[in-house]
Amino acid sequence: CGIVGYIGQSQAAPILIEGLTQLEYRGYDSAGVAVITSKGPRVVRAVGRVRDLEAAMPKTLRGTTGIGHTRWATHGPATLENAHPHASEDGRILVVHNGIIDNAADLRAQLSSAGVRLTSDTDTEVIAHLVSRSTAGSLEDRVIDVLTRLTGTYAIAVVDADAPDRIVVARQGSPLILGVGEHEMFVGSDASALVRHTSSIVHLDDGEMAAITADGFRTFTMDRRETGKVPERVALDAADLEIGGHDTYLHKEIFEQPESLARMLSGRLDERFATARLDGLGIDPRELRGFKRVKAIGCGSAYYVGQMGASMIEDLARIPADAEAASEFRYRNPIIEPDTLYVAVSQSGETADTLFAVREIQRKGGRVVGLVNVVGSTIARQCDGGIYLHAGPEISVASTKVLTHMAVGFAMLALTLGRVRDLSYADGARIIAGLKSLPEQVQQVLDTDDEIAGAAASLVGAESLFFVGRVRGYPVAREGAQKLKEITYQHAEAYQTSELKHGPLALISTSMPTVAVVPNDELVDRNIGALQEISARGGRVLALTHEGVNLDGLDVQRINVPDGEVELQVVLLTVALQLLAYHVATQLGRDIDRPRNLAKSVTVE
Ligand code: G6P
Repeated sequence: CGIVGYIGQSQAAPILIEGLTQLEYRGYDSAGVAVITSKGPRVVRAVGRVRDLEAAMPKTLRGTTGIGHTRWATHGPATLENAHPHASEDGRILVVHNGIIDNAADLRAQLSSAGVRLTSDTDTEVIAHLVSRSTAGSLEDRVIDVLTRLTGTYAIAVVDADAPDRIVVARQGSPLILGVGEHEMFVGSDASALVRHTSSIVHLDDGEMAAITADGFRTFTMDRRETGKVPERVALDAADLEIGGHDTYLHKEIFEQPESLARMLSGRLDERFATARLDGLGIDPRELRGFKRVKAIGCGSAYYVGQMGASMIEDLARIPADAEAASEFRYRNPIIEPDTLYVAVSQSGETADTLFAVREIQRKGGRVVGLVNVVGSTIARQCDGGIYLHAGPEISVASTKVLTHMAVGFAMLALTLGRVRDLSYADGARIIAGLKSLPEQVQQVLDTDDEIAGAAASLVGAESLFFVGRVRGYPVAREGAQKLKEITYQHAEAYQTSELKHGPLALISTSMPTVAVVPNDELVDRNIGALQEISARGGRVLALTHEGVNLDGLDVQRINVPDGEVELQVVLLTVALQLLAYHVATQLGRDIDRPRNLAKSVTVE
């Protein structure tokens, strides 16, 4: 979910709508605003997108204090009743909330038996009633009074129609920032909601609250200790949030990769010593040598790139490395080893599952570095060091450019770990040369767009698809299947090519095509053998491969990506699969940037 707030001299409604539009990628099944007008509080809510909310807004909604919300349903379906803001019975207290209140069921029961009529299925509504019923004094005091009774995670913003000069906000486990303007203040789930108005940002920490007025803010903890936060400057350019000449953000983000990768690499490759310069890790070479194992954790696509990264680390640094879904890792009582380097991988830096896994590792004495895109995000700040991905804002819900940046981040980490071990100067120099040619090679993949669109046409409407790859290619296949599922709603399953014959080959038929990742590596002949097995059973195959790979005599369609250093091939293969998913989705007329049921940043567990 996304939260916004405004208090100042201007009309709140348009500012809230504009902020919600920027935050829409965080959830888009319903949206709402509350504005304190001269005639009292007014709430406008709509099921659907922010544009539906905008259409429902009366032109007369005038007032300079307000809060807003865009929702990704957790408690209760996406209905008007469940849309935020939620109000107390008298409508005077209004609340927006991101997170999950664990003891909401108990609190709802208590409120009901006290005669309160609850109008939604949400956990949030209880906050409004409890604040309204609290006798603690000022709005700040009443919010504190209520928060001490809540367990769970939240970022909340509360307004009181009887104290319209302030908004009280609190953060516990869900992101929340303040923006500081001239006689105006902003609240947002992240900086994208605020950058059009101010670059002066205050990051709140967990357990921290703020009372904001048009003229400033005060930060304090829930036990009333002043924290005296001061604003920081964020270097986010509002122009980066524009869609430019593209039809969708996804298209824009795929096509800006050559430029963004070049920017990410600049200044980070040390040709003299054939290594990478990763000062942000905060780990000196001797310490780096001490790690006996590397473990990547992340969710969704970030997890799959973690798997790509683990391969690179094993290949280049010869340290055992693997990846695990952060959402599982944390709950299985993992064994944390002091000589393991943990790598938290996250575009947003706000994914709750990843964040809690990081904290679990740290609690048990493990060292975690982040591969994170959003500067100043919670995971970035929580980690002991890291590599910022510098991909620029990614708006489309399905991740594309940031994934290639993650893979390149892992390549630099693998190079660094390798060069303090047994990776030779020559091999280090080879990887550096490979990294330097990546932006140009990604461009070459993008130049085959028409060809990929043609190949996509043959996949549209398939009952289901296999995406297969092995060793380095397997996480590429997983990510390829994920992207297809996310934006086309077509079912796809990723499998190790080598494992097909041990079961799923039974599913091969003309209506179940296979997308095969066939890099030009030591397994190429085995991969080709597997393609023969699929073709022989009537399965259609689209091979993603390199020009030098000989598929003569096989009845397969092929897409070639440029050949490069074997350890880096995953990057180019992944870009080609991004285009493939994009074209299937376009041909199916899907909502490319806002696929159903998904949110870009899942800040609940
Ligand atoms: C959500 C998104 C996925 C994303 C995952 C991890 O589930 O829908 O596309 O891969 O979160 O996000 P992160 O911001 O941590 O990379």
